[in-house]
Amino acid sequence: MTVPRPDIPAPMGMLAELTHRCPLKCPYCSNPVDLERRSSELDTETWLRVFSEAAALGVLQVHLSGGEPTARPDLEQIVARCADLNLYTNLITAGVGVTAARWQAMADAGLDHVQLSIQAPTAAANDFVAGLPGAFDKKLETAKQVTGLGLPLTLNAVIHRHNIDAVDETIELAVACGARRLEIAHVQYYGWAAKNRQGLIPPKEAVVACMEKVDAARERLAGTLVIDAVVPDYYARFPKPCMGGWGARSFNVTPSGKVLPCHAAETIPGIEYENVSIRTLKNIWYDSASFNKYRGTSWMPDLCRTCERRDIDFGGCRCQAFAITGRADETDPVCEKSTHRAELTRMAEADAAAQENFVYRAF
Ligand code: SF4
Ligand code: FES
Repeated sequence: MTVPRPDIPAPMGMLAELTHRCPLKCPYCSNPVDLERRSSELDTETWLRVFSEAAALGVLQVHLSGGEPTARPDLEQIVARCADLNLYTNLITAGVGVTAARWQAMADAGLDHVQLSIQAPTAAANDFVAGLPGAFDKKLETAKQVTGLGLPLTLNAVIHRHNIDAVDETIELAVACGARRLEIAHVQYYGWAAKNRQGLIPPKEAVVACMEKVDAARERLAGTLVIDAVVPDYYARFPKPCMGGWGARSFNVTPSGKVLPCHAAETIPGIEYENVSIRTLKNIWYDSASFNKYRGTSWMPDLCRTCERRDIDFGGCRCQAFAITGRADETDPVCEKSTHRAELTRMAEADAAAQENFVYRAF
């Protein structure tokens, strides 16, 4: 039997990728390049058990994500079970094709919060990035339905070369939609985005101008809209504390039930991830080799282990370290102390100047 270990905190958050199916084709999708098919998705009963196990493990907040989670006809049942378990539910949706009746049903089931993605602040640009004509108008309709039900709304805008200059318009759109919060989320370059780096990375000047506009809007809109934004990795001095540390605060369950320390963990080869169909979440969280691999500080290279920031950023992102250096146990190359930092800067500058097209996400 697994007993909680005092040196390992209980997780607070769970990202449930209920399905990888999605009507959109965003070229920076956080799903893996090898998408999981409908035939391998967990059934309703198993998902309901997983949420019960998560609550028993100490999870407080679940992010119901995808793909597009509303593609699952059992979503209302899942929301209702989470509400029974006192789990705070955040539905992460592309917001195309959900009827008013279904939004009402989800609100009745106890949904707490909706996070709606927006690809760009105009119909033409939004639908181009999403790869779906008509998506923008449906998203505006979704925003209306969600706020009309009194549900708190966050707009999530993933920022890249094709929309970075329109950040002011994105902020205006969030206000017009009645969102309480806007996430300005610069692309993280793993998976699909790594494949499309040369088609997505913005030049440094555009990033600086974007951050200045965000700072000015924060002041202007204080009390109306909360704006979350961080400097994108490739132009920062230090890495972000990815996931709050590997196996420290939260985990991800894929459509087929694999439990991952982060959404991109499968980009690191040679790690076997356990499945909820075979082991309990508790057992996986405390005892699996995958969660213990980069937990704490003992795995760290000397540079991080002896650094005063090791409990602030935890050595950065393991997936990014692997993507750039070929080793997941390296210091995140974003760090200005890393011997790979100059190489990363050169690569970002070259990719930003490349002006390549991107490929859309697809099965
Ligand atoms: Fe963070 Fe490691 Fe860089 Fe220190 S050396 S700032 S711990 S990534
Ligand atoms: Fe995997 Fe950062 S995305 S550790």
